[in-house]
Amino acid sequence: MLMVEKLNAGYESGPVIHDVSLEVRAGEIVALIGANGAGKSTLAKALSGILPALAGGIRFQDQSIAGLPAPRRVQLGLVHVPEGRQIFAGLTVAQNLELGAYGLRRQSAAAAATRTEAVYARFPVLRPRAGDVAGNLSGGQQQMLAIGRALMSDPKVLILDEPSLGLSPILVKQIFELIASLRNQGIAILLSEQNARMSLAIADRGYVLENGRIMLSGAAAALAKSDDIATR
Ligand SMILES: Nc1ncnc2c1ncn2[C@@H]1O[C@H](COP(=O)(O)OP(=O)(O)OP(=O)(O)O)[C@@H](O)[C@H]1O
Ligand SMILES: [Mg+2]
Repeated sequence: MLMVEKLNAGYESGPVIHDVSLEVRAGEIVALIGANGAGKSTLAKALSGILPALAGGIRFQDQSIAGLPAPRRVQLGLVHVPEGRQIFAGLTVAQNLELGAYGLRRQSAAAAATRTEAVYARFPVLRPRAGDVAGNLSGGQQQMLAIGRALMSDPKVLILDEPSLGLSPILVKQIFELIASLRNQGIAILLSEQNARMSLAIADRGYVLENGRIMLSGAAAALAKSDDIATR
């Protein structure tokens, strides 16, 4: 589905991601593990098109997308849930969800309504909050809203950047269960996390990013046992 080859990306201050190659296949959860500052978010932004690729290739469903603007990538089905949720705190829950469908011009009002209903069915706590401003939701509810907003655009591959960040252990468990259920409904997932143990527990494969380079990759179960991860 998503094939990344020797990708380089960074900021005006300098490159951060160096020659990263990775793949997300249909039906997979792929963990992207790395410490604080390893470059996980920078990589996620380059994949979704928020940051330009300095060199290297990104293919999505056999089409080169490295030169496409971010909204086009969303339309194709590559959707990024950024670190820190980035919901519109001053808008209502319902308005946030509407914005998730905004990029899909061909999506009819009826289709958007069906999708909204599916999001509320998946996240029942959001339904009674539909008219509340999103800034008043709890951290866990805001993460559900951020994922719900992404689901409005019918993703084929979801890039989730630190979905467990700042959540209580019970909510972290719920979010990881949710991610596994998304995979089971056919959405492939690139899961960027500092929490190596929990993300490898639900992932099929994983990549370890250090200083912007892939240092280790393989089956999730094998990676979880590697010394590098087990001691974290
Ligand atoms: N907007 C920016 N401008 C310049 N440098 C940045 C910017 N954002 C991040 N960086 C730098 O890029 C490097 C990688 O940061 P990045 O946020 O991608 O790491 P991360 O793995 O997502 O870390 P974390 O686990 O803390 O989210 C760091 O050295 C950081 O200082
Ligand atoms: Mg990050």
